[in-house]
Amino acid sequence: MPTPETERTWLRATGPEGRRIAYGADYNPDQWPREVWDEDVALMREAGVTVVSLAIFSWARIQPAADRWDFGWLDEAMDLLHAHGIGVDLATATASPPPWLTTAHPEILPVTRTGETVWPGARQHWRPTSPVFREHALTLVEAIATRYADHPALVAWHVNNELGCHNVYDYSDDAARAFRRWLQDRYTTIEALNHAWGTAFWSQAYSDWAQILPPRLAASHPNPTQQLDFKRFSSDALKDHLRAERDALRRITPGVPVTTNFMVMGETKGMDYADWAREVDFVSNDHYVLPGPQSLDELSFSANLTGHLAGGRPWFLMEHSTSAVNWQPVNVAKKAGEMIRDSLTHVAHGADAVCFFQWRQSAAGAEKYHSAMVPHAGVDSDVFRDVVELGRTLATLQPVAGSRQAPAPVAILFDWPSWWASEQDSHPTDRLRYRAEALDWYSALLAAGVRADVVPTGTPLRGYDVVVAPVLHVVPDRLAQELADYAAGGGHLVTTYFSGVVDENDHVRLGGYPGALRSALGIRVQQFAPLLDHEQVRLDNGTVGSVWSERVDLVDADVEVLVRYTDGETAGHPAVTRRRQDAGSATYVSTRLGPQGLEPVVGAVLEAAGVRSELSADVRGRVELAVRATQDATFWFLVNRTAERVEVPDIAGELLLGVREETSSVSGPVVLQPRGVAVVRR
Ligand code: GAL
Repeated sequence: MPTPETERTWLRATGPEGRRIAYGADYNPDQWPREVWDEDVALMREAGVTVVSLAIFSWARIQPAADRWDFGWLDEAMDLLHAHGIGVDLATATASPPPWLTTAHPEILPVTRTGETVWPGARQHWRPTSPVFREHALTLVEAIATRYADHPALVAWHVNNELGCHNVYDYSDDAARAFRRWLQDRYTTIEALNHAWGTAFWSQAYSDWAQILPPRLAASHPNPTQQLDFKRFSSDALKDHLRAERDALRRITPGVPVTTNFMVMGETKGMDYADWAREVDFVSNDHYVLPGPQSLDELSFSANLTGHLAGGRPWFLMEHSTSAVNWQPVNVAKKAGEMIRDSLTHVAHGADAVCFFQWRQSAAGAEKYHSAMVPHAGVDSDVFRDVVELGRTLATLQPVAGSRQAPAPVAILFDWPSWWASEQDSHPTDRLRYRAEALDWYSALLAAGVRADVVPTGTPLRGYDVVVAPVLHVVPDRLAQELADYAAGGGHLVTTYFSGVVDENDHVRLGGYPGALRSALGIRVQQFAPLLDHEQVRLDNGTVGSVWSERVDLVDADVEVLVRYTDGETAGHPAVTRRRQDAGSATYVSTRLGPQGLEPVVGAVLEAAGVRSELSADVRGRVELAVRATQDATFWFLVNRTAERVEVPDIAGELLLGVREETSSVSGPVVLQPRGVAVVRR
């Protein structure tokens, strides 16, 4: 977790005038002739850039052969940036091993589930568990750290890059050996492993550790607990690499904070960032907008979760895009106002740095059509004009820097083991999407104008009026107790289908679903009734369920039915139930309702909990409110989610960004331009 000391060091990137929001990009000067660098730094000044991430993919340039080093160009780039007042988040450059290394040591190349080698030619072609790769990577890390330990431009270390983006699952023999060691640590005895994996099934009992393999291509579904443990192991294996680089850096430069860029976005799920967050000095994230009806909600959800991985403390947006990316099927350009609004949405959720991939758009290579701060068109472009405007805007938000995410009345629990386990094969349906369900709840709360914190399991729940635990599939005893205590202690708990079903070993909790949560909810489900793609179930509140349904039986007398199914096999039976418990309650939703379908349920829960929107009714859903706070002030970020002008009534306070109807006052309606953002200090 970040310490004030290390944060202070990081903030050397923020300028002599005090703490401010850092601004910048990945900078790849090694792709350009030297004369371009002078223009780069001049333009960086013009844009208000304060920090760049340097040398992320420069291994082949820094170490052109096993016994040759070329630091001259990097020395010059570091000096040049420093001379222009720009701090450097210096990469350890280990993300893409050079051809000489993979030629000499092909045994570092990852192997897929089906036994194919992942060849060089792109990037991140290394096995997380390869001792040979580790040795070469650490040699490079030590060389870079030693050389730049005292360089005045250095403000932070950037370990590797997006660890696990392409290489999280490796099924090689190195991985098999490391997996066995990891399992011995977890289970100690082979008997304990046999029990946890349920190997009595299909004659899988192991008599020796050496017999165990990663879940490689098999004749049918590999053992589910083996698969789940392999996911845990794979996350840990990369974490181990992160720690190895970090420890080398800390040894050589104890005062320089270390980070690595997470990928809290979309369906990237291989790395348990709730577990990784404690390994870094400050949390960084990369986020790219995913087109679709919930794209804005997804951005907000990801930023919100990133901040809570950082414990509410400021974090670093290491990458996003000024406009289109290059890796989606169709790469949509950002519309007018979107880039600045998206950036400020991250700031609204606690980002104290706004950076892009990348500074100058490449002329060659796989990412040449990916947008950048300086696009192919050059500085005479809307993109660059917006980049300059964003730089100015961030400078005016200086008072916000250092403030934390202010707690919301609602929490949405986010749980990596449940994400991994609920989407495994050989399940009632392969249509279930863990993160999509969580996002739907977030969308429904956004529509209601109620702030929700997206928090990892393990976050203290007391203090939240409502806790939503969507598809909380893996529920160890401790978590079951925590949730039951929360509801019994006056909290309002909400959970959904396929929750509480298994323990940490992916063993079903017997006696009826939802297993570990059955008694808190006061219900019992005998069997799941997932729906085919063309099937839907109607509910008596006018909404429609898809993907999943169940026949829910009420067990306790204090359980009420909020909504019933009206057609299909479950017609007349409860679809949504609520158990009242003194001041608290426990609500269960047995089908997938989607963001709009959840709105009435969310309304009922909020009403029972006495939670009201902080926004006036006419702007709810059109405007997102996110709040940051210091000891003496709160900062209200009002984000216009629409392409129309919106007036937000009755917001008192000093405007740091935006305008009011009547220009001079500190109260009265705040005017949001289309896709505009206002910030009010209250
Ligand atoms: C990230 C990566 C960058 C760049 C970017 C493109 O995955 O860290 O190097 O590839 O995506 O969107």
